[in-house]
Amino acid sequence: MMAVDLDRIGRASLKELGDIRIDDVLSFIDRGIENMPSYMDLYRRWEAQQWSVGDIDFSLDRQDWLEATDLERKATLWSHRLFFNGEERVTSTLAPFVWAAPSPEIEVFLSTQMVDEARHTVFFEKWWREVAGTDSRDMTELLKEIRPEANEGYNILFYDRLPATAQRLASNPRDFDAFVEGVTLYHIVIEATIALTGQRFELESMREQGLTERGFYRGFTAVARDESRHVNFGIKVLQDAVRENADRYAPLIQKTLVECLPLITGTLDPPDPRYITEFGHTESEIVQFAFDSLNKRLRAIGINLAA
Ligand SMILES: [Fe+2]
Ligand SMILES: [Fe+2]
Repeated sequence: MMAVDLDRIGRASLKELGDIRIDDVLSFIDRGIENMPSYMDLYRRWEAQQWSVGDIDFSLDRQDWLEATDLERKATLWSHRLFFNGEERVTSTLAPFVWAAPSPEIEVFLSTQMVDEARHTVFFEKWWREVAGTDSRDMTELLKEIRPEANEGYNILFYDRLPATAQRLASNPRDFDAFVEGVTLYHIVIEATIALTGQRFELESMREQGLTERGFYRGFTAVARDESRHVNFGIKVLQDAVRENADRYAPLIQKTLVECLPLITGTLDPPDPRYITEFGHTESEIVQFAFDSLNKRLRAIGINLAA
């Protein structure tokens, strides 16, 4: 097998991202683990990886949508509701993290991440308007229309735990314990474990079906490249905290993770198993992938989950 050219992926334009596999994008995280970039390296990577939602052409995606079966549409809507709503939730809760940043380098990186999350939200809004279709007049109406229903794990994570953590940071930006717990929840549970797993399987299914020329494939790969940068950042914050004081921070991280484990499986669980099996995958394969990636990240941070 040819070695993956990570620099090419790092610099790839939206159009070139159509030729790139999600697993190769994710290998950025593993390279980061072997050779941890600094916060300013991650900032510079952000500068080099700009992309515009406005450049994405969804016309082939729209054609596919019109020809799709009922089950294909339902499966796509299930996944995209979680992502669209989730991107908006993470955009709205990140500002207190910026305020609570323990150093200017962290503050600078987190500011770039806020812009990314806003862009990801706009990416899904455009997909909704141009592919699935909607009569909603603005994003408030659209988000209300698409809010994921009846998923308890998701609701607890995005409407309870995440806003509560952001509120804790806003009330006391000097609370570094809250910052460590917040990064564990936001960057490790939500981004590294749930979001990147969902992205990986949706993009792989598209590639297996020969749909890499679609606007969604390119844009979602750009989203995943951004997420891999956010995950590298989260690993670094927690690795630094554990190196500084393992007795204090390792148990904090472990406790947050143990509380969130059932919410991870709850979020990834589709209301109809065919949403996954119909596209050549299984739910246990997805959950396995999620926990394998979580374990890899934890090894890099320097802790394990064994009680
Ligand atoms: Fe995002
Ligand atoms: Fe993110």
